[in-house]
Amino acid sequence: MAVRICCRFLVSGLLFRNYHFKVRCTTTICNVDGVQNINSSSNAFVMYSLRCIECGREYDESRYTCECGGLLEVQFELEKIELNFKLDGTNLSVWKYRSLLPVRIKPVTLREGGTPLYRVRRLEEELGVKEIYVKHEGLNPSGSFKDRGMTVGVTKALELKKKAVACASTGNTAASMAMYAAKAGLKAYILLPAGKVALGKVAQALMHGAKVIGIKGNFDTALKLVREVSKIENFYLLNSVNPFRLEGQKTIAYEIVDEIGLPDRVVLPIGNAGNISAIYKGFKEFRELGLIDDIPMMTGIQAEGASPIYNAFVNHKNDIEPIKNPETIATAIRIGNPVNAKKALRAIYDSNGYVEIVSDDEIIEAQRFLASKEGIGVEPASAASIAGLRKLVEKGVVERDERVVCIVTGNLLKDPETVINVCGKPIEVDASIEVIRSVL
Ligand code: F0G
Repeated sequence: MAVRICCRFLVSGLLFRNYHFKVRCTTTICNVDGVQNINSSSNAFVMYSLRCIECGREYDESRYTCECGGLLEVQFELEKIELNFKLDGTNLSVWKYRSLLPVRIKPVTLREGGTPLYRVRRLEEELGVKEIYVKHEGLNPSGSFKDRGMTVGVTKALELKKKAVACASTGNTAASMAMYAAKAGLKAYILLPAGKVALGKVAQALMHGAKVIGIKGNFDTALKLVREVSKIENFYLLNSVNPFRLEGQKTIAYEIVDEIGLPDRVVLPIGNAGNISAIYKGFKEFRELGLIDDIPMMTGIQAEGASPIYNAFVNHKNDIEPIKNPETIATAIRIGNPVNAKKALRAIYDSNGYVEIVSDDEIIEAQRFLASKEGIGVEPASAASIAGLRKLVEKGVVERDERVVCIVTGNLLKDPETVINVCGKPIEVDASIEVIRSVL
């Protein structure tokens, strides 16, 4: 493994050096929205089509799935794209990589991306792993990684002259979509599994002005319904079945490479399985462009009670058997029938990755560890990546000389109720120095 890493550094170092010669140097100036005014002439004509991952059919119009029912993926003519960013670790943001994003108009942005990648030395020590980083996606504008997808997806909605956007959500997609719809001046419609969404997320969606509807059913049912309603009402659907949304999310991979080069492994929670597919695509594109020479092992973590991808993985299957009644404390990933399962399983198999499951107790322990030992506050679903890493180190799947990046997907403040249930309420005492000192 050590040899493998050394080779990787060497090769990627060379590639990086070459790359600087290839890239056209542009002066980047930020406009009031924080979007880099990168010479837009080449960006206006980014060449892409939508390609079915099942039958390979290509479309140049905007749609969600293929006529055969397969998922679509944005396919670029990478060799024709003139890249206008430098991988120098600076000015990280979704729109730094605009030349690899399929939009033609001025983006709707709230300055998403550019999230911190923390080296977590206490976790390294605790697990005995050489190099671990945590990318804190909870520090995006709405507090989750969804903003990367929404800045692209909502921009696309405007490009397509849609008047309204819609999604089903376990909460974060809802909060993010509502926020970006507000910025864009679009109507937003949201279906949630009633009583199963963390309070902070519902509060965000409501205050940003979305129409929020709780249904008596789980996320999978909500998604099925919103797909049908969107078709009837001509809403632009912004769940991760929308291939343009995933384009924004792939910038997580770009930012990691931009900042530290190529890791051996990326670990992240899986729910509807869009993010793991998107990040894998980001690495794959950078490899095709010759910017990296390998792809990290894509490692997905599910909750024990919501583990269809794990079940498929351990049985060497390319598709899932849906789980009827998923259950976990990590409500964000309480999903039994992930729409992007096939894309995700491909990403995992192609990258020599892995899938693990973790219990609710393991999730909460990891959430506590990150918050109290590393100063990184995340919601339960995000902590699944840390809990999963711990388990995989114990199993010997993750080797101790690896360079690992864990993606933590949502902010601690999203789910205050779980925190209070776990930590208990603060004690209340009389307002006197003696009493306060007696309880210190
Ligand atoms: N972590 C958090 C905090 C999430 O909100 C989600 C998904 C995931 C992980 C899983 O990501 O679906 O791309 O595999 N939340 C969606 C939502 C389903 O509606 O907010 P995925």
